[in-house]
Amino acid sequence: MKVRDSGMPDEALWDSFFDVELILQRLGIDASLVDVAELGCGYGTFTLPVAERISGTPHTYDIDEAMVARTKARVARAGLTDVVVECRDVVTQGFGLPPASQHGCLLFNILHHDDPVTLLRTAARCLQPGGRLFAIHWRHDPATPRGPSLSIRPRPQQIIAWAEESGALDLASDVLDLAPWHYGLVLARANRPCEGRSQVPISAGSAPTQATLTVDHLERSSSRTKRYSPAAQGM
Ligand SMILES: C[S@@+](CC[C@H](N)C(=O)[O-])C[C@H]1O[C@@H](n2cnc3c(N)ncnc32)[C@H](O)[C@@H]1O
Repeated sequence: MKVRDSGMPDEALWDSFFDVELILQRLGIDASLVDVAELGCGYGTFTLPVAERISGTPHTYDIDEAMVARTKARVARAGLTDVVVECRDVVTQGFGLPPASQHGCLLFNILHHDDPVTLLRTAARCLQPGGRLFAIHWRHDPATPRGPSLSIRPRPQQIIAWAEESGALDLASDVLDLAPWHYGLVLARANRPCEGRSQVPISAGSAPTQATLTVDHLERSSSRTKRYSPAAQGM
């Protein structure tokens, strides 16, 4: 089942929306990660740079044959040999990877799915305890040049609430500013089963940095500056 509103514009236009190096650096995607799974490679915008940064194998899946073919072509042209690119419906079939086998999982521009908690649990299952789930999404801002309808576009605090509901993921970062158009979150796989609500309060994350977005910055609704905290979001 293809995630709603997940069609892609022209490749060059899509790639122009991201500062890929900044995004990967702020998320902390580096050689400390061994194997990494990705839901929805698209044009391979992130697949190749991730492959170059991590120390193991990226496994990336897309439901769209054309996207798989394009990513495979880019991988081959770059001379990368240790990248798994397959056509797969991850929503209905899962990743097909052994449970707890991955150090990282990418959910980039996909959490507007109509069952995000199940998607988060699917991702959590393939992660080893302490493994990191990296989520990025379009800011909830009508000025963004692309992205799913605002009515289904999650705000960061919504993703944090879904992660808590999944029972399997703890917040492991502040809300990260992935300028110009995106924000990011890092969630850590908790050492408990995926099903059921979490009894463990989510952490407010590490100290804010220059790369940390304030809630007001994200919403552009106020001139006040307010650091993210779960309590401030009424959670
Ligand atoms: C908005 S694009 C994002 C691509 C990439 N993650 C990025 O940020 O550049 C979403 C991608 O997810 C793929 N997709 C949608 N539903 C899927 C599913 N059920 N299983 C695997 N891939 C899916 C789409 O075909 C599309 O290529």
